[in-house]
Amino acid sequence: MTVEAPIIQNTQRPERIDIGDGLVMRWSTIKDANNIADCMAHAFKWSGIFATVAEDEEPAPNAWVKAGIKRLMRGNSAVMTEYDYAVVENTLAKDGQNPIVAGISLHGVPGFYGEKVSMLYGKPEAVCSNPEYRNKGLIRRLFHELIHPASDARGDVIQIIPGIPHFYRQFGYEYAIGLRNSRSIDDLNTKLPSLLSKDAITPSALAAEPFTLRVPTLADVPYLCKLSTREAQKSQAQVGLEYRESYWRYTIHDAIETQESSFDAGRLTRIIVDAKTGKDCGLVMGASAPRLGLFIFTLEEGYLYREALYPVLRQFVLAGEEPSAWEVKQAAEKKSKEDKEDDKAAKNDDKDGPAPKDGQTHATTTTDSTAPTSAEKPPAPKPLRLILDPDHPITKLLESKSTADEHKNIRLFTRIPSYANFIIKVAPSLEHRLAQSCLAGITATLQFDFYRKVVGSAGKGLEVIIKDGQIVSARDDFVPPTPEELMLAARERKALAKAEGRPDTKPTVFKYQFAPLTFTRLLVGDLSVDEMIYFYTETSVGGGDDAKLLLETLFPKTKEQFQCDLFWW
Ligand SMILES: CC(C)(COP(=O)(O)OP(=O)(O)OC[C@H]1O[C@@H](n2cnc3c(N)ncnc32)[C@H](O)[C@@H]1OP(=O)(O)O)[C@@H](O)C(=O)NCCC(=O)NCCS
Repeated sequence: MTVEAPIIQNTQRPERIDIGDGLVMRWSTIKDANNIADCMAHAFKWSGIFATVAEDEEPAPNAWVKAGIKRLMRGNSAVMTEYDYAVVENTLAKDGQNPIVAGISLHGVPGFYGEKVSMLYGKPEAVCSNPEYRNKGLIRRLFHELIHPASDARGDVIQIIPGIPHFYRQFGYEYAIGLRNSRSIDDLNTKLPSLLSKDAITPSALAAEPFTLRVPTLADVPYLCKLSTREAQKSQAQVGLEYRESYWRYTIHDAIETQESSFDAGRLTRIIVDAKTGKDCGLVMGASAPRLGLFIFTLEEGYLYREALYPVLRQFVLAGEEPSAWEVKQAAEKKSKEDKEDDKAAKNDDKDGPAPKDGQTHATTTTDSTAPTSAEKPPAPKPLRLILDPDHPITKLLESKSTADEHKNIRLFTRIPSYANFIIKVAPSLEHRLAQSCLAGITATLQFDFYRKVVGSAGKGLEVIIKDGQIVSARDDFVPPTPEELMLAARERKALAKAEGRPDTKPTVFKYQFAPLTFTRLLVGDLSVDEMIYFYTETSVGGGDDAKLLLETLFPKTKEQFQCDLFWW
C-alpha cells in the first residue's frame, strides 16, 4: 500500500472575495486564531458540547470549543495548518467587535479504502456563523467558493463531515459512511469494583501487576504506528482513518507541549509493558477529557487480552485522572511564585515582623489569573466510553458490563465529487476484490445512469471499463445512449464483424441506474445492492447475469463500521 504524504498548506491562500456589506471571504492566518476561536465558542454556546446548558440561563461561550479551535490554529496540528480556515471577515467591525463572523476549517485526515489504498480524506470541520449573520448564505458560499475548490484541488477524492442533522445535504453530501457505535460503562466504581479499588492500588500492588503502562516518547512513534494499523487492531473495516506518524507525533508530544488550558485536552496514550520481561507488548489509547474513552487496545501476538484487560484498564483509568501537563505546569509555576513570595516575606519579616501562620496566605498568592477556577475546571471523568470494533476481544470481554450508547446508525455526511476520480484512486482495492472473487479476470463495461446532475455530482452518469480484471478507465461525462443510438451502434458492430469475416461478439455492458448521490452508499459499503434496490425504487441493475454479482464484488457491504478517532483535533 502506498502512503501519501500529508498535505501541508504553508502559506496563506490568495483568494479574497468581496461579498458586499463590508464582508470578505478569505483564508486564515495565525493572526485570526483568537477571533475564530471566539466566534466558534460563541456560535456553539447553545450546543451543549461537553457542557450543560441550563433551561433558564444563557450559557457562556463554549470553553471546549474555544480551546479546540485555538489548538487547531496553533500551526502544529496534524490535520491542518493556520492557513486552513476559510472565514468571512467583517471589514467594518468596530473596535471591540469580532471581525470574524463565519468560518469552516478544512482538515486532511489520512485514511484507507479497502485493503490496498491509503489516501487523504478531506474533512470540513468546525463550521459556524455568528447568530447575527445566519441564514444569509455565508456558510453556503464558504463551501462552494473556498472549501470544496481547495479540497478538490489538493486531490481529496472524498470528504466527510460528522455534522448536525440534514444541513450538509444541500452542499452535495449524502449520509453514507456508518460510524462505529460506542459502548459505555457508566459507573466504573460500581460496575467494575475490582477495577477501581483505589485503596488496593499501592506501589506494591502495581509492582505485582503482570502488565504495566508507560508514557511513550517520540522514539516510540514507529512502535505506535506498528500497533495501530488496521490489521494490528484486528479490524475488518473497509473505510476508516489511519494512525500515522503525524498523528502520534502530535498527540503524544507536540499537542502536550503546547497545551494552553484544562479544556485543551488531547489523547491519552500508554505503551503496555510485560512486567516479567520488561518488554513493550501493546498499546492502549483513548481520551481522558472531556470524557474518558478507550479507542485502541492492541496486544502483540502471544499475549492474551483476558489476562491484560484489568491490569491495563485499571492503570489506564488512573492515568486518565492524573492532572494534565498544563495543570502540572501551572501548579509548578504557582509553587515557584509562592516560594518567591515566601522568600520576600522572610526578608521583610526581618524588618517588619513575623510571617503569616500556617493556613494563612498572602493575598498575592491566592489568585492565579491563568489557572482555571474550580468553576471552570472540567469535572473528573467517570464513565468509560469504548469505541472499539464490535468484534474486538476487549469489546467482547466487557460486553456484559457495558451498554450500547444511544446514538445508533450514525452516518457521516459523505461527498464524492467525482465518482470517476474516486474509482481510479481506489482501483487497487477494487482490483484486489475482483482478483479474490469468482469474477477474477473479467472484462466488462459498467454504465451508470444517475438521472440528473445535482449539487455534489460531477455528471449525470459514469462509465467504468474493466479489462482482464483491471480498471482501465472511468469517466463522469457518460450520458446513457438513446435506443436509436444503441441500435445504430449494434448495426455498425455487426457490419464490421461481417466485413472482417469473423463472428459478431457482443461486448459485456452492464447497466445500472441510481438516484443522484445514492451510489455513494454502495461505494463505501453502507448498503448492499439488494438494499439499494429496496430503499431506492429507481435503482436498477441489468445487462447480464453477472451485473449484480460484479457490483457486489466491487462494493461489498461492510460489517465493520468506519474506524475513526474523529475529534482528535
Ligand atoms: C449551522 C450554521 C453553521 C448555519 O449557518 P448559516 O450561516 O445560517 O448558513 P447559511 O446561511 O449558509 O445556510 C444555508 C442554508 O441552510 C439553511 N440552514 C441554516 N441552518 C440550518 C440547519 N441547522 N439545518 C438545516 N438547514 C439550515 C438555511 O436556511 C439556508 O437555506 P436556504 O438557502 O434554503 O435559505 C449556523 O447556524 C451555526 O453556526 N450554528 C451553530 C454551530 C453549528 O451547529 N455548526 C455546525 C456544526 S456541524
